[in-house]
Amino acid sequence: MTVSTIGNPMTRVDGRAKVTGRARYAADFNQPGQLYAVIVSATVGLGRITGIQAAEVERMPGVVALITHRNAEKLAYLPHKAGIDPATGERLHVLQDDTVRFYGQPVALVVADTLDHAERAATALRVTYEARPPLVDPMDPKAESIVPDTRGRVSPDRARGDADKAVAGAPVTLDATYEMARENHNPMEPHATIAAWSGDRLTLWSKSQYLVNEQAEIAAVFGMPVENIEVICPFIGGAFGTSLRTWPHVTLAALAARQVGKPVKLVLTRKQMFFTTGHRPRTLQRVALGATNDGKLTGVVHEGTGETSRYEQFMEALTAVTDYLYSCPNVRTQYRLTELDTGTPNHMRGPGEASGIFALESAMDELSYKLGIDPIELRRRNEPEKDEAENKPFSSRSLMQCYALGAERFGWARRTPEPRSMRDGRLLIGMGAATATYPAFHAPANARVRLLADGTVEVEAAASDMGPGTYTSMTQVAAETLGLPPERIRFRLGRSSYPQTPSHGGSWTMASVGSAIQAACIEAQAQVSRLATADSASPLYNVAAGELEWSDGRLRRRGETTGISYREIVAKAGAPIEADGSAQRDPEVAERYSMHSFGAVFAEVAVDPDVGTIRVRRIVGAYGIGRVVNPLLARSQCTGGMIGGMGMALMERTVLDSRDGRPVNAHMADYLMPVNLDIPELDAHFVDEVDPHVNALGVKGLGEIALVGTAPAIANAVFHATGTRVRSLPIHIEDVLTA
Ligand code: MOS
Repeated sequence: MTVSTIGNPMTRVDGRAKVTGRARYAADFNQPGQLYAVIVSATVGLGRITGIQAAEVERMPGVVALITHRNAEKLAYLPHKAGIDPATGERLHVLQDDTVRFYGQPVALVVADTLDHAERAATALRVTYEARPPLVDPMDPKAESIVPDTRGRVSPDRARGDADKAVAGAPVTLDATYEMARENHNPMEPHATIAAWSGDRLTLWSKSQYLVNEQAEIAAVFGMPVENIEVICPFIGGAFGTSLRTWPHVTLAALAARQVGKPVKLVLTRKQMFFTTGHRPRTLQRVALGATNDGKLTGVVHEGTGETSRYEQFMEALTAVTDYLYSCPNVRTQYRLTELDTGTPNHMRGPGEASGIFALESAMDELSYKLGIDPIELRRRNEPEKDEAENKPFSSRSLMQCYALGAERFGWARRTPEPRSMRDGRLLIGMGAATATYPAFHAPANARVRLLADGTVEVEAAASDMGPGTYTSMTQVAAETLGLPPERIRFRLGRSSYPQTPSHGGSWTMASVGSAIQAACIEAQAQVSRLATADSASPLYNVAAGELEWSDGRLRRRGETTGISYREIVAKAGAPIEADGSAQRDPEVAERYSMHSFGAVFAEVAVDPDVGTIRVRRIVGAYGIGRVVNPLLARSQCTGGMIGGMGMALMERTVLDSRDGRPVNAHMADYLMPVNLDIPELDAHFVDEVDPHVNALGVKGLGEIALVGTAPAIANAVFHATGTRVRSLPIHIEDVLTA
């Protein structure tokens, strides 16, 4: 009997490599004779470089090169390959002119024989500027919002019915504005690249969630053939979206390595990771709701504005959830951007949805109190039959099951509805809930499978594993499809020369790469079947394909027990059996259904009424994400996302000095994130959900939804505890002290 590996809580296949230090991250790939590069970052927020005192620094010990816009190679910066980047516009051309567009922009690069020497010289370099005050605050009266260029699924304006009229005429209304701070990703592993040229070929050991994009981007920047570049990244120490794009430091490492003729290692400092590697944009949102007295939504308006840089438009799906989440005949959503003198933002876990849903789910909670209806009951009364924005059925939607399961596990029934009505000693206790949702994406992907004569299998795809356990879950997919024990599978990722995959983001890796691996395994089996049935010496000679079945690594005639093993067939073939597979969503099915994951998040907080400290005591999430490939990894994904949501709700905020755009808390001491002592009991559950439409694996994706919904659940719990509605994240002590 074949034991199904999909669905098993298998521990990480790379766990031992990680805890013994054998797992190598970008900065670990030291090359013989390498030099060390350190970036000098602009100390003004806008302006022009007027002077660089290069000579003194060039004479300093160990310095091999000082590269500035004056002596840097002029780079091609060819246009992006269509659709490969999340932003439109003219990307930052690093060290190509004297313009400073934002604080922290690289203005020089020191290359030296040791890191110490490079750092010393970089610190000593004097750069003078002609500076102007930058505009970095979206609340500044001078800030203007623009209509973003429509692209992909982000629509600046969507409407059905007449939402404004419906809200104005509704018996019960709510109109409120919500704000969310700028956040930085702050993974443990810093961005790092080691670049080495060999003739006109470039190898980049570089932290990347999207290797084939890094390859294509550097090829475009240097105007060189894509196939002359290889990007290698077998392990990632967290990323959360910051490594989806190829940022200027990768260009700088490659440029320096070419200029000095030696491999160059460039690792960003924690501070520099607040400058040029993207951030979650600060957002301002207005939500207006109209409802009948019994809680049926009659009108919904959601207007959201995000920030972007002057040179690129970064777009995220800020208001998209409002289009489909609840049933309502009149809905209007609007998305705008404010151009600021800042680096371009980037996707950060749950991009768009996580920010947008804070506004919508806070507003729904506020409405529930106005109506005197339980917040979960309010969602139930507005549960749609279909996606009303697209006028399509959902491929699957288990939101109400998620609320039921989550409420039961959380103990929602113990909650007394009145704010400030629950106490534990002198502490105020609050319980809040919120909906989570994220699209079930699926992008075209490829994979290769190789059956070896020793009975083991190699699987390859140019994917990444930033922590969710891709190595493990893909091993399970291959083992399951081939009917082999997982120990016989070796899954390799992290090389751009492997079969192409989409970015390791958007919660689509399992759907996309997993489906490609499944397809490659099925193709390998077909090859094996052909060999076995064409061989007159084989016990399966001339057996029809429909008569064959696979189990335990053997091919047999249906109903018979013996058959023939992979190993024997491959040995007889005299060479490994290799099969390529690719998968993409059937466009007709994609057209027919609206595909999303759903979830319900519950939080309990304790607020000290005297000093205003807020502690999260418990979070329970219940999710409908289709098939769960590995419940152990899936739960770990969810608890990680909940911790990110706690940061969003109560701690994380990048503060810019309005005078020069300097991030004043660009270090781990002042950029607050939950640490072990902050983290309470976290619990994730999955409803049984079969979605036959999303893909053959039946998976809907998990990475992003794990964060979405957590912040509003906590904010709603803070209101329930204190009676104070805080509409700005992160929530501070002083926000609730006014209670
Ligand atoms: Mo995720 S923001 O797509 O890495």
